[in-house]
Amino acid sequence: MSTSNLVVRRLAGALAAAGLMGATAAQAGEVEVLHWWTSGGEAKAATALKGKLLALGHTWRDFAVAGGGGDSAMTVLKSRVVSGNAPAAAQIKGPSIQEWAREGVLAPIDDVAKANNWDTLLPKSIADGLKYKGSYVAAPVNVHRVNWLWANPAVFQKAGVKVPTTWDEFFTAAEALKKAGVIPVAHGGQNWQDFTTFEAVALGVGGTDFYKKALVQLDQGTLKSATMEKVLATFKKVKDYTDRNAAGRDWNLATAMVINGQAGMQIMGDWAKGEFLAAGKVPGKDFVCSPAPGTGKAYTYNVDSFAMFKLKNDANVKAQKDLAAAIMSPEFQEVFNLNKGSIPVRLNMDLAKFDDCAKQSSADFVASSKSGALLPSIAHGMAAPSAAEGAIKDAVSQFWNTDKMTPKEAMDRIASAAKQK
Ligand code: GAL
Repeated sequence: MSTSNLVVRRLAGALAAAGLMGATAAQAGEVEVLHWWTSGGEAKAATALKGKLLALGHTWRDFAVAGGGGDSAMTVLKSRVVSGNAPAAAQIKGPSIQEWAREGVLAPIDDVAKANNWDTLLPKSIADGLKYKGSYVAAPVNVHRVNWLWANPAVFQKAGVKVPTTWDEFFTAAEALKKAGVIPVAHGGQNWQDFTTFEAVALGVGGTDFYKKALVQLDQGTLKSATMEKVLATFKKVKDYTDRNAAGRDWNLATAMVINGQAGMQIMGDWAKGEFLAAGKVPGKDFVCSPAPGTGKAYTYNVDSFAMFKLKNDANVKAQKDLAAAIMSPEFQEVFNLNKGSIPVRLNMDLAKFDDCAKQSSADFVASSKSGALLPSIAHGMAAPSAAEGAIKDAVSQFWNTDKMTPKEAMDRIASAAKQK
């Protein structure tokens, strides 16, 4: 058993002995929770959730399906639900929440939400996405910022360049890093990671309005525009600065390359910070977080949430509702997000224990929501219906992986993928 599991069990035991457990033996239920948090930082965060549940006297059945971005987890979830064996809760985000709710398999948790004032504790736009026909069906854990660049400052110093804030600076820095004998860009060649890089380039090169029209509204004219062509050409140029072994590499192994100085930088959401922290690295000293080039005034968000499935057993329903309530508690929001690299989704939380990357994320979240530059991440399931998102993601990866494909050809494929329903 890992040390953290041991700590969790001891905590549960101590609370039980003190009679402080939320559920009596008769009420104790089991929650099976589907997620894909298997990297170092992610697993620490998931353990915090499990600890909350155990402390309430319930049993946690872990249903972890490895695979960053969650594509494998979603495939497994579909087969479980189809065979009538849904877990109590599953990590489901964005428009997919509505898609699952339309299937009639999700359970309303309004009693929990009302008793705990969720409507006043959540930004309205986020709360709306967690509701189906006016009822909450999912509980949110965090806000991840996706448009980040993670850099190793010692490596940059050795190469004599500064961390880039524009795409011109990015390529200048990448050249210098290459000359200094390091891999400029740590990348994992999996379609969702290609898509994460693409989304950052689209926002940085095309700007906020372009991002909205192309990747949120899926507007055909914008998807086939000169700006899109420029975005795709820039995106493909990034590949020249990745290494030959990138294909299939997990995102956290790419982060490890930046941590150990083998690579200079990585474009990734702030779950990457969870890896730096889990490795004992200090923000601002051992690693730097900077908005992806050209995106300093904008914010692509990714809210992790757990959708609740209909269950038959009363004790398990009680455990499921306790899970939903625990997720929104201030203590959980703090400890989970300190490990996960994200910020609390619950408003007005004290960020004293959080680092400067989290504080910047929080300030930029507020500023961008006022300026209209707060944007849902398409690469992380927040912006488009899942069918269109999957098809565009595949088209983007094909372009990344096919030497002879021109940006014009890619543009046509992406535009027709966007019509997928
Ligand atoms: C995202 C998810 C994050 C993180 C990441 C890598 O889609 O929202 O919580 O886990 O994938 O696995």
